[in-house]
Amino acid sequence: MPHSDIGLIGLGTMGAMLALNIADHGFSVSVYNRTTERTKAFMDQAGALTAKLTPCEDLQELVASLAKPRNIILMVPAGEAVDQQIAKLLPLLDAKDMIIDAGNANFHDTQRRAQAANAAGRPFLGIGVSGGAEGARFGPSIMGGGEKSSWDRIAHILSAISAKYQGTPCATWMGEGGAGHFVKTVHNGIEYADMQLIAEVYGVMRDGLGMAAKDCGAVFDRWNEGTLQSYLIEISGKVSGATDPATNTPMLDVILDRAGQKGTGRWTVIESQMLGAPVPVVEAAVTARNLSAMRDLRLAGVSAYGGSDRSLASDAISIADLEQALIAGKILCYAQGFDLLGKAGAEYGWALPMPQIAETWREGCIIRSAMLNDMAVALAEDAGRNLILAPYFRKLITANIGGLRKTAITAQTAGLPVPALSSALAYFDTLTTARTTANMLQAQRDFFGAHGFERVDQAGDGHHGPWLDQHLDG
Ligand code: 6PG
Repeated sequence: MPHSDIGLIGLGTMGAMLALNIADHGFSVSVYNRTTERTKAFMDQAGALTAKLTPCEDLQELVASLAKPRNIILMVPAGEAVDQQIAKLLPLLDAKDMIIDAGNANFHDTQRRAQAANAAGRPFLGIGVSGGAEGARFGPSIMGGGEKSSWDRIAHILSAISAKYQGTPCATWMGEGGAGHFVKTVHNGIEYADMQLIAEVYGVMRDGLGMAAKDCGAVFDRWNEGTLQSYLIEISGKVSGATDPATNTPMLDVILDRAGQKGTGRWTVIESQMLGAPVPVVEAAVTARNLSAMRDLRLAGVSAYGGSDRSLASDAISIADLEQALIAGKILCYAQGFDLLGKAGAEYGWALPMPQIAETWREGCIIRSAMLNDMAVALAEDAGRNLILAPYFRKLITANIGGLRKTAITAQTAGLPVPALSSALAYFDTLTTARTTANMLQAQRDFFGAHGFERVDQAGDGHHGPWLDQHLDG
């Protein structure tokens, strides 16, 4: 009996699409799902690819159907389900068989699973897969983590199924253990930030300038032809132009303003705080989603304080200002993301391939954009430098920061909430301030806790102010 090249467990949308993608590239795939009905439905939609697919009713059948050493992709919900699936599989596998977790795992879980696998001498990979259902089917961006030898074992399959940027596969080994899932987490944090920046600019157009959804859509369409060219701007144009078949009104206008989230943005913020590598635009984006979910409180706020008129004079801000705001905001939030990756690499001992991370995001993933190629170039020049200091981006920020400032000020003056844009601006203003006000914080800390401070005119960090004796003497 012929044996399949690879196995895949979990035929939810992403798993099913990935299995079809692998089969489409000529590899044979054995598939298994907890419920057999799902497996049957999957096979029914497989069409011409059926010949490359082997449906299995239980794990034993799946394992027996695979060529050795076996490679098995897990596409089950992140968290407990992954541990349970691994526990069920292990007794059926040989020492050289490899489990590949391709879900949106928390990288700490991947680190733990990789460590357990290493200790037992088993290969294990944790790979981040981005691009939604369409990406999974026709070419996702793939961020791999685990032993390099494990990656090399299936790199030909992952490269074949991945998106291509001018022929280069968007599938990269990022480092050992949870490196791949860490990079995917930061990708998602940036995804949250990029989406929020766009949503805020849409808000200025809708509530400030009184523009109809389709007119906002036309603006996004136009921007997608320029510096902002990206998947997220493209789909923002599409969703803005769509009509609700039920009411024949703009689709956007009937969608409730309460955002969901599965947690990867929050993980990015948590990790950034732990590493002391701030990603304030991502934080603003996560917070904005949380506040959006508190609809009852927001409505109570309107009752208590009144929903003031937030419209702007038609000449208060131009579409060109808004484009500038998005360009500058975008660069600043990506600079934060790459900074976080650099710090994480140093902390966790990964030699993260910074330019290749940007390259891997050029196609297939949700944050794919023209600008990522320029970021890859800037990171190749100097991977440790904050992107805002790269000459190319310095020019771009200098040319566009005025629009960001004008948008933030104009929106705030009218009461339009723009937390991500404001946060991007504050990040820029802080990073261009030689003397911040942290001297005040240090003085306060020393006053109440004798924590000591550094002086501008002497070495050492154990200096104290004159207040200490006085206030301890009482
Ligand atoms: C991707 C996405 C994807 C993510 C969804 C939903 O890269 O394909 O990041 O992995 O799960 O976009 O995320 P939220 O529900 O948290 O918005």
